[in-house]
Amino acid sequence: MSGKSVRSPLFYVGDKYKLTPQLNSLFPNNINIFHDVFAGGGSASLNAKANSFSLNDVDKNVISIHEFLIENSPKLDELILHFYELIDMYGLSHSELNLNNIIVDLKKDYPKTYFSKYNKNQYLQMRDDYNGNKDRIDLLYLLIIYGFNHMIRYNKLGNFNLPVGNVDWNKNVTKALKDYSDWVLRNNEINISNLDFESYISIQNPTEDDFFYFDPPYLITSSDYNKIWSVDNERRLYKLLDKLSDEGVSWGLSNMVYHKDRTNEILTEWSDKYHVFAITSNYISRFDNSIKNSKEIYVTNKIEE
Ligand SMILES: C[S@@+](CC[C@H](N)C(=O)[O-])C[C@H]1O[C@@H](n2cnc3c(N)ncnc32)[C@H](O)[C@@H]1O
Repeated sequence: MSGKSVRSPLFYVGDKYKLTPQLNSLFPNNINIFHDVFAGGGSASLNAKANSFSLNDVDKNVISIHEFLIENSPKLDELILHFYELIDMYGLSHSELNLNNIIVDLKKDYPKTYFSKYNKNQYLQMRDDYNGNKDRIDLLYLLIIYGFNHMIRYNKLGNFNLPVGNVDWNKNVTKALKDYSDWVLRNNEINISNLDFESYISIQNPTEDDFFYFDPPYLITSSDYNKIWSVDNERRLYKLLDKLSDEGVSWGLSNMVYHKDRTNEILTEWSDKYHVFAITSNYISRFDNSIKNSKEIYVTNKIEE
C-alpha cells in the first residue's frame, strides 16, 4: 500500500506501525483474506491491502476494544464527543483542545511528568469506576490513552492496575480513531476473534489467496504480553507454520533474531528453510551484515514470482 502508515488508536506496545511499509512490500500482491493472527493493536491490518480482514488475539481486552471501535465506527463523531464529555467529567487534561494554565505551571516544575501530576487522581477515580464495571469499554479505552506507555495491564484479581502516564488526549488520538473508522468503513468484512493462535488456525478453511501474518511476542524481548509466551509456544508456532507450508498455505512471520545479549536459536535454526528478510528502519536486505544491537526479521514461505 502506498502513502503514509496509519497508527492504531490502541498505540499498542510493539506495534508494527513503523515497519508496515517494509512488510507490505513483502506481503503477497493479491490477498483475499488477511489473517492477523496476533493482531494486538491491529496496525498490520490497518495498513495492509486485502479483500477482507480477520483479526485475532488471545487477549480478550484487546479484542473488546476492537469490537467496540468497529461497532462505533459508523458514528465516530458521536463517539469522540462522548470521550470529550468523559474527559471533561473526570477533569482530565485534554491537550487537543487546550493547554490550561495549571498545566503550563506544572510543566515548569515537572518538565517530564506534568501530565501525570495533573491527571493522577482523576485517572485513579476512572480506574476504580472501570474496575467496578468492566463492561465500560469506553473507560478502558480512556485508561489506555491516559495510562503509562498506553499499556493494558491487569493484576491477578483481574483489575486494571496500570498507573497514570505522562500522556493525554491529543490530536494524534483523534486522528488515529478517524483512520481506524475509515478503515472499518472501507472494509465491510472484518472478522474478530479471541483465540489462541493454534485454535484460530484449526477453524480456518483457507484458499490459496488467503494470507496469514504472525507477529507473536518475541521470545527474547520483554513486554507485558511476553509473560504469556514461552519456548513451548515458540516451538508450537513453528510446528504449525511447517504444517501450513505442507498444506500450501501462505504465511509471513515477524520475529527477532537477537536483542542485546540474547539470541533466539530456535528461530535461526527453524527459519533456515524459508525466505528470511532483515527488517530495519530504513532498508531491507537479505544479507544484513551490519552489527546492531538487535536484528528483526520477516520469514515467509511465499515470495512473488
Ligand atoms: C507483538 S504483539 C502484536 C502487535 C501487533 N502486530 C500490532 O501491530 O499491534 C503480540 C500479540 O500476541 C498476542 N498473543 C500472545 N499469545 C498469544 C496466543 N497464544 N495466541 C494468540 N495471540 C497471542 C498478545 O496478546 C499480543 O497482542
